[in-house]
Amino acid sequence: MKRPIAYVAGTGRGVPSHVMTNFDFASIGIETSDEWITERTGIKQRYIARNGETTCSMAADAARQAMQRANVSAGELDAIVLSTATTDRLLPSTAVDLQAQLGARRAAAFDISAACSGFIYGATVAEGLIATGVTETVLVVGAEKMSSIIDWQDRSTCVLFGDGAGAAILKRARHTPSGQLPKGILSAYIRSDGTLADLLYRPGGGSTNPLSDAVLAERSQFVKMAGREVFKHAVRSMSEATDRALDGAKLTGDDIDLLIPHQANMRIIEATAKHANVSMDKVFVNVDRYGNTSSASVPIALDEAIEAGRIKEGTNVLLVAFGAGFTWASMVIRF
Ligand code: ACO
Repeated sequence: MKRPIAYVAGTGRGVPSHVMTNFDFASIGIETSDEWITERTGIKQRYIARNGETTCSMAADAARQAMQRANVSAGELDAIVLSTATTDRLLPSTAVDLQAQLGARRAAAFDISAACSGFIYGATVAEGLIATGVTETVLVVGAEKMSSIIDWQDRSTCVLFGDGAGAAILKRARHTPSGQLPKGILSAYIRSDGTLADLLYRPGGGSTNPLSDAVLAERSQFVKMAGREVFKHAVRSMSEATDRALDGAKLTGDDIDLLIPHQANMRIIEATAKHANVSMDKVFVNVDRYGNTSSASVPIALDEAIEAGRIKEGTNVLLVAFGAGFTWASMVIRF
């Protein structure tokens, strides 16, 4: 089918109010320093959910803002695709809780699990739903309460992550008057490699290794990560993904006005931009303020970039992400 099938009609974000800086780790007994974290990752602070803030409540804040900006009411949503690694309950999905909060009675709602690549996976699924004619208007959300699954005693992981949510409304692309470039998703690319799953995972708490005294003693209900290995794969896969998205859109790095990479680590962002031949002044960065918010990172950055006026009509945006699984994904969108 010929693209664009869908376009971004509005975006939003939901961010907890509590800020935790690199200096605050001392107060919870973590031996680290602002210098170590900044040098290795570029992170200076992150937002942490408190006082009843949940994956769903942050998702709802992001969704309401996106709907308002897209001028879409809850009753007009045909589907809600929510990406999260931190569902509020194990059953049912957080997407149906969000549906109830929004009052989106007509929508089909479901979660997807693709870790940090989840928002681009979700947008790709939403585009497919629109292509089939099953839906016209889809809410895509990436929402994460990473603070609930990271090990606050493990300094090699707890300094990296933060909480938040980002959302976008995708609508069926409209007929473009002749002479005008069509706006919407120009290409999408999603991949995974499950043979590398154990490099970044939560070993305990699922059906094969349910919560038990042994799981709790080993703290294996929390995220475990082989940082150096993840770093290498992230650079390689995000570089490959930028190539595939550019090929799919028949564009080169020169045609990209703004690169929005997954915000995990400044060094991974710089390596990805270099590979894509996109200069750093065309790269959106907020990892310093948010840390790694997993699948919320790309839509939060997208929303901030629009708000900052860095995305206007005609802007070509390249999204790219990498996460646990491993999963990786990319997308070119013309606004
Ligand atoms: N503060 C101070 N020292 C620390 C900390 C900390 N927070 N964490 C680890 N260290 C120490 C280690 O104990 C080790 O000390 P040792 O040499 O005495 O044993 C030393 O620092 C080096 O540890 P490494 O893990 O080898 O450090 P590295 O340079 O690889 O940096 C990092 C670690 C930042 C995690 C890096 O590997 C990285 O960025 N990896 C990618 C991780 C990532 O981005 N994951 C997310 C992508 S996928 C997703 O988003 C889900």
